[in-house]
Amino acid sequence: MTKCIIRGFGRYAPKRIVTNFDLEKFVDTNDEWITTRTGIKQRHMAAEGESASDMATEAAKRALADAGMKAHELTHIIVGTFTPDSMIPSTACRVQQKLGIRDQMCVDVGAACSGFLYALETARGYLALHPESKILLACSEVITPRLNWEDRASCVLFGDAAGAVILTGKNAAGAEDTPRVLDIMLKADGSLGDLLMVNGGGSADPYKLGTIVDEEYFVQLEGREIFKHAVRKMSAACEEILEKNGVDKKEIDVLLPHQANFRIIDAVGRKFDIPAEKVFSNIDRYANTSAASIPVAFSEAVETGFIKKGDLVLLTAFGGGFTWGAALVQF
Ligand SMILES: CC(C)(COP(=O)(O)OP(=O)(O)OC[C@H]1O[C@@H](n2cnc3c(N)ncnc32)[C@H](O)[C@@H]1OP(=O)(O)O)[C@@H](O)C(=O)NCCC(=O)NCCS
Repeated sequence: MTKCIIRGFGRYAPKRIVTNFDLEKFVDTNDEWITTRTGIKQRHMAAEGESASDMATEAAKRALADAGMKAHELTHIIVGTFTPDSMIPSTACRVQQKLGIRDQMCVDVGAACSGFLYALETARGYLALHPESKILLACSEVITPRLNWEDRASCVLFGDAAGAVILTGKNAAGAEDTPRVLDIMLKADGSLGDLLMVNGGGSADPYKLGTIVDEEYFVQLEGREIFKHAVRKMSAACEEILEKNGVDKKEIDVLLPHQANFRIIDAVGRKFDIPAEKVFSNIDRYANTSAASIPVAFSEAVETGFIKKGDLVLLTAFGGGFTWGAALVQF
């Protein structure tokens, strides 16, 4: 099996920060409720006209610099997002354009909050077929314009951000082959799709010229149901990947879960007896940034030294679809 080596990390968050106290001014909510139920204290919000490709491009430039690579060396661009710039062209094509390069294969992957893990597995497939590939994987979400600010049960939960990694199969002569993706497992259950949707404007619910935007256009979710499924399914995915790879839970140095709710993160950590100091979370500062949450958190955990050389890192995600999964990374 061709290796999948992470050569560089990058992240970007819009300048504007909106705290829970700011939200209190226009949403029927309060800091105490949001903090105790979710762990969220603030979120970043994209500027007017700032698109998913703008943010992905910034994160990509930082990941390329971290990898010591130039954009023209890339062979593939994969973007994970549920908030693309447009239906056509893909956000990946827009990122290519903004990086000022041509001829790479460009594709978007849609798996909501599991987008990073789904896109990572897609990249592993390309690397298996073409070991010389140099892949940009960027996950970028501009969720805040897709929130119904009159629905307090959903609008307080999300934020905007982008995270990127550069992946290669072979490494430069003499260079190390870590951080290395050891394995990924992914699942989905479409029968539960209606519990988390953005339906309006799609082909199942098309808008006609002059249609007034209604709540169907925005993120709609059944928080309590999702909470239960998220804990169960992320835990099951972690268990399965550890068993398949003969890894004992005590060998995990860092658990880095999708950042949806601190209580979900805490519950998954407890299920695996992973002490809190080994569980990475930045949900207090970003809220849920969907596909971007894992690469943003990964990049911060590496930069701050939370993840150290030699660490065995367990990633896990859960999102709309439902989609979920886990990955093992040898750092
Ligand atoms: C949304 C979530 C934080 C709600 O937490 P919870 O403890 O289940 O809260 P409940 O839904 O039971 O709501 C409890 C009360 O708080 C109220 N409430 C909901 N949102 C509120 C808000 N933003 N501010 C204040 N009160 C709020 C509800 O109206 C309800 O009031 P009631 O008891 O008088 O009816 C939690 O279920 C969650 O994080 N779910 C997953 C989130 C998700 O879907 N993420 C995306 C996919 S990864």
